[in-house]
Amino acid sequence: MSAPHILATGRCLPERVVTNEELNQRVDTSDEWVFSRTGIHQRHFCEEETGLDLAVSAARQAMDRAGATAADIGVCLVATFTPDHASPSTACLLQRELGLEEDTVCFDLNAACAGFLYGLKTAHALLSDTPRPCALVVGAEVISRVMDHTDRGTCVLFGDGAGAAVVRRDASRRWHAVFGTRGDPDSIRVQGPGPLPSAIHMDGRAVFRFAVEVVEQSIRQLLEREGLVSINDLDLVVCHQANARIIDFVAKRLGAREGLFFKNMDRYGNTSAASIPIALDELVQAGALRPGMRVLMVGFGGGLTWAGALLEW
Ligand SMILES: CC(C)(COP(=O)(O)OP(=O)(O)OC[C@H]1O[C@@H](n2cnc3c(N)ncnc32)[C@H](O)[C@@H]1OP(=O)(O)O)[C@@H](O)C(=O)NCCC(=O)NCCS
Repeated sequence: MSAPHILATGRCLPERVVTNEELNQRVDTSDEWVFSRTGIHQRHFCEEETGLDLAVSAARQAMDRAGATAADIGVCLVATFTPDHASPSTACLLQRELGLEEDTVCFDLNAACAGFLYGLKTAHALLSDTPRPCALVVGAEVISRVMDHTDRGTCVLFGDGAGAAVVRRDASRRWHAVFGTRGDPDSIRVQGPGPLPSAIHMDGRAVFRFAVEVVEQSIRQLLEREGLVSINDLDLVVCHQANARIIDFVAKRLGAREGLFFKNMDRYGNTSAASIPIALDELVQAGALRPGMRVLMVGFGGGLTWAGALLEW
């Protein structure tokens, strides 16, 4: 028996806030259209900041709050599909910025919007074989860099940001985690380096159907593994913050009590791998996520890929 124990979290959002009204000056949209379909009012876009800047700031916050020094960190993972460079990885540059030791296992991983939970699972596994007690798991995205800012179907959905967690492997705890992949080249695609400008292509309706299916399925699987009959036996559900309608749809199908599913996409939009750790950090700082609470998290997105985890905070 062993589980990842999240000791502390941090977050960093770029300074620049972009409202739906501001996007309406560039594309034919409105706050009413965007908010009613997604729950998003505004998001942050990087101007000066790089993805590394966001990752460093979120990671430092998490390490300070955990009371962890560079010597405590044996694993440093950055979940991202928008790294500053194809190489070196953001994790390698983060190692340098934080002064982590040379024996730290550092790499980026791309599981799109499920990336933070893939990172948590990977960090937990890697910690079994490192002399240092802690891992740093960061989700960091600069999605504004890969968006077509003239495509109203996608440019209103995403935002930039980073969230981080310091994680320890705890032999006295247990957790449940589920992972899935449905190789799909079309539903969400981001053009890689090449002659075409980078842009997100998405079949919004197909992604919506996929999301509500796998989020509900993951939650049911995790509840069953924990021997719980009702979702209301949980203290908190933190889904990837893609879209309020996806979350509300699943919450209704599962008969969840009001407020059980956390939502903050109104202020940040969809920050992909960063959305779950940003949400966790907001909850911890607000005193809404406390030790002993039973938390269920679900991420889903490009790949198509998804992941869920149930653990005690
Ligand atoms: C993207 C999403 C909000 C679109 O909502 P929808 O109701 O499916 O809308 P459609 O794409 O069918 O478009 C309906 C109309 O709105 C228009 N429209 C699209 N974006 C618009 C915008 N920002 N403002 C105004 N109108 C818009 C379309 O052009 C279309 O117009 P038409 O009927 O004249 O052709 C919805 O499909 C969704 O939430 N999908 C999941 C996306 C997601 O979360 N992805 C990330 C997962 S990690």
